[in-house]
Amino acid sequence: MRCADKRRRFVGSRDMLAKPYHGATSCYRFSVTATVLSTAHLPIDIGPYLGGLDYFEPSSGELARCEILEEIRGARALISLLSVRVDEELLDAAPNLKVVANYAVGYDNVDVAAASERGIIVTNTPDVLTEATADFAFALLMASARRLGEGERLLRCGAWMGWLPTLLLGQPIHGRCLGVVGAGRIGQAMLRRGRGFGMPLLYSGPRPVAQAEALGARRCSTEELLASSDFVSLHCPLNRETRHLIDAEALSRMKESAVLVNTSRGGCVDSEALARALKAGLIAGAGLDVFEGEPGIPASLLECEAAVLAPHIGSATHEARQGMARICAEAVAAVLSGKLATTALNPEAVT
Ligand code: DGY
Repeated sequence: MRCADKRRRFVGSRDMLAKPYHGATSCYRFSVTATVLSTAHLPIDIGPYLGGLDYFEPSSGELARCEILEEIRGARALISLLSVRVDEELLDAAPNLKVVANYAVGYDNVDVAAASERGIIVTNTPDVLTEATADFAFALLMASARRLGEGERLLRCGAWMGWLPTLLLGQPIHGRCLGVVGAGRIGQAMLRRGRGFGMPLLYSGPRPVAQAEALGARRCSTEELLASSDFVSLHCPLNRETRHLIDAEALSRMKESAVLVNTSRGGCVDSEALARALKAGLIAGAGLDVFEGEPGIPASLLECEAAVLAPHIGSATHEARQGMARICAEAVAAVLSGKLATTALNPEAVT
């Protein structure tokens, strides 16, 4: 497959030489050795935050993997999207790499252990996207509870015949129980929103969280949370413990009137089990921003009227996405000047 986007932007002192690459793939090779390689076009010019380092990014869209593998060879820093697998193959292709700045707070796409073994620092983008993502999780909660997706489709296809006492009745939100799985920064922000809506609050997670307790949230097991909550919102990282955390059994514990919201990672939910549960009326609805294997969406989920689906835009505000770019650039500049990035996930990699 030929890479769609052939326009590139190189910022720095060297010229870009683009020529067809006659290898096993049909990718183009750009004989560019930039210090910092961004796998995607970013929403701001990161130059001012890079402390004079030259960098290379696509002028739009993102690089294909074959291009990343080619262009990473001379780079000392990588700014990667959550869709880029930063695995041993990629790290081995980058002998000079010192830092991977993941343009996301979640970093399940990065093999942090493999990076540490090679003395490479990995960073992420906490804080700047917390409120934006919680806003969006709450938007999905409300849209699913009040069947906004179905309503919009009805109206847009011209099938709305007018106001009726029984049209698109949904679930109340105010005063209903909100259960948050994972009370980290975004989970806490979700709890704050729930508190504003007068919702009793539950949370589950590996340890008590003082900030969640201060909001009046009670910690319980995930099993109890699933059984007691009217809204279950996932804010946990994706790892071995949380993969398919919401499976058929978990769904069977939930109330028939309950709504599931997922803005964390698609892999936390068994989407086929969710589609079956929605179709069978085991739960009332789902608001999903993330999908296993995205951008592919399982056909079974697309068929579910009671699912409100979004294209992974939880953090998609101008402010959050610009902040994420700035944080990545600052982390790169810090590491390449011998300092410790405040967002380093594996500071021990260089000690
Ligand atoms: C993240 O940061 O992990 C989100 O999924 C994208 O903002």
